[in-house]
Amino acid sequence: MTHYDETYARWKQDPQGWWAEAARGIAWDTPPAATFDASLGVYGRWFPGGRLNTCFNAVDRHVAAGRGDQAAIIWDSPMTGRTLTITYAALQDRVARVAGALAARGVGKGDRVVIYMPMVPEAAIAMLACARLGAVHSVVFGGFAAAELAARIADAKPKAIVSTSCGLEPGRVVKYKPLLDAAIALSPHKPGAVLILQREASPCELTPGRDEDLLEAERAAAPHPCVSVDSTDPLYILYTSGTTGAPKGILRDNGGHAVALMNSMAMVYGVQAGDVYWAASDVGWVVGHSYIVYAPLLAGCTTVLFEGKPVGTPDAGTFWRVCEQHGVKVLFTAPTAIRAIKKEDPEGEFLKRHDLSKLEALYLAGERCDPDTITWSQRLLGKPVVDHWWQTETGWTITGNFRGLGLFPTRPGSGGKPAPGYDVVVLDEANQEVPRGQIGSLAIRLPLPPSCLPTLFNADDRFRDAYLSAHPGFYSTADAGMIDAEGYVSVMSRTDDIINVAGHRLSTGGMEEVLASHPDVAECAVVGVRDTLKGQVPLGLVVLKSGVTKPEAEIAREVVAMVRDRIGPVAAFKDARVVARLPKTRSGKILRATLRKIADGEDYVVPPTIDDPVILDEVGAVLKAAMR
Ligand code: COA
Ligand code: AMP
Repeated sequence: MTHYDETYARWKQDPQGWWAEAARGIAWDTPPAATFDASLGVYGRWFPGGRLNTCFNAVDRHVAAGRGDQAAIIWDSPMTGRTLTITYAALQDRVARVAGALAARGVGKGDRVVIYMPMVPEAAIAMLACARLGAVHSVVFGGFAAAELAARIADAKPKAIVSTSCGLEPGRVVKYKPLLDAAIALSPHKPGAVLILQREASPCELTPGRDEDLLEAERAAAPHPCVSVDSTDPLYILYTSGTTGAPKGILRDNGGHAVALMNSMAMVYGVQAGDVYWAASDVGWVVGHSYIVYAPLLAGCTTVLFEGKPVGTPDAGTFWRVCEQHGVKVLFTAPTAIRAIKKEDPEGEFLKRHDLSKLEALYLAGERCDPDTITWSQRLLGKPVVDHWWQTETGWTITGNFRGLGLFPTRPGSGGKPAPGYDVVVLDEANQEVPRGQIGSLAIRLPLPPSCLPTLFNADDRFRDAYLSAHPGFYSTADAGMIDAEGYVSVMSRTDDIINVAGHRLSTGGMEEVLASHPDVAECAVVGVRDTLKGQVPLGLVVLKSGVTKPEAEIAREVVAMVRDRIGPVAAFKDARVVARLPKTRSGKILRATLRKIADGEDYVVPPTIDDPVILDEVGAVLKAAMR
């Protein structure tokens, strides 16, 4: 029996005992009264009765244990040409002061704070400052437009917003302040305080009576101590795409999150206190929350916060330069980033110029990883490359390969085996497990492990509907896939209308709402078309109202601009085509699932309920022509 098999079996035999042991890794103010209570919440709650502070565990505790001089955060920003090292002691001071500044502006336990920031250390500092106060942060990715930010402000109702004057994208400065102003104007809820980080590249005018300079507020504030909270109190809300334009507020609690993430650093990634860990993602995504900020700091590691791109800042060697310069032991990124590097540097010429002796493994997640990307990086790096599967909802890996448990052989195309904590099954529509090797809906037997969402923010019913109703007794992942005879899980595609563009999760339903609001559009569909770099890219198919005389190309340009304006550049919505008709069933429903399959290059059967197969052929040809 391998170490993995033995650990998984031990968890399965006694899940509560297993998690109780993991919980010892956390400094509790009051130890939990129980490991799990099935009578609480929607499906039960972890570590009820326990009291702790997540910021204390991520920062103060390491200073107290003598790690004050160790680097906590290394900010590496090819966008500005700067690097900055923040020790644990310095981080403690800055976080405590920002917490003091927020408290002085009325933010307390349970209050929400929206953080709209690029990859600067102040983003992590603001998150930790909220955690210190027991306040609930909601970070919004910088690539979203004002309307998306407004929807999140309206839902979260923050007491304060922490933002910046600008972000830096290759070739352009993204001015945050106009987006923030527009979002606040659009939202029915207004924040009481707004703290703005002024950046050299493009400082902004502060709105009198509302905005204040973040760094001045930090300097003037008294350090605030850590506030003890209940294990089940929320730590953060992270909005993610749902099947409609209204984003879902994924809720994360303090205790379960701290336990699972702390445990994951050694078990999944095989890193310990003092190691350098780099998740090349963005604080606006779950990978950034979990593996740029919380998990590495909970474990006493040094985390790298990188403001740049895998290519073009300045070249395809940047990732390897960062690994060498900072002694990165484990790198975590999205397959799309590796595909971008591979495209520019297929023979690894840049890679060969760097000493990567300290790098022990590469972990990939965020989208399905094509086998070629795995084998290419394994060949050039000569190190283990691990594909692992997870979701915003879970906060840590569902399946993977576990350096802390001894790696088992990887299988390109598979996301590995379930992490201890997850009982993963493949179900058919009748809620029956399908035989090994057959594709079905991937589901997790309840209860979900610690760190997974206990519910959606202010939306228990939506949580039940979206995740628990399709398969009673299970959490539906909305991913389709299979488990093979040896227990390897392969995640093939989404079962809903979420698409994955360059590792970013987007709702085609949300884009369709924008397209449908164009005055000349009668009906529309947005599908994710296979793309060799980004995995998928959205393609809009629009049918025009009769009598429209405006040129088709102009309408296409207009809807592209509308999606950028309302959802944001991150949607990467650049292609819309006018078609005469959309394929439908005889009862008039657009055949979205069939269109999705064609666009993904999958086999499909023409549904027997189809109204007119010729239309499917016509539109299918448009989709095939759009694949890259
Ligand atoms: N703020 C503002 N705009 C942003 C942004 C941000 N934080 N992040 C991305 N954008 C913009 C980009 O500038 C681009 O705008 P453009 O249309 O004007 O060019 C648009 O959103 C699309 O961005 P992206 O999908 O990132 O495409 P790209 O062509 O700029 O880069 C990759 C392609 C593969 C290099 C890039 O997508 C990448 O690094 N991906 C890794 C993804 C990742 O880490 N995902 C996290 C999950 S683990
Ligand atoms: P997000 O919530 O943004 O992290 O996106 C989660 C979704 O990304 C999952 O439901 C999957 O569809 C996809 N995904 C993430 N990691 C993987 C992986 N390793 N393999 C296949 N799909 C993945």
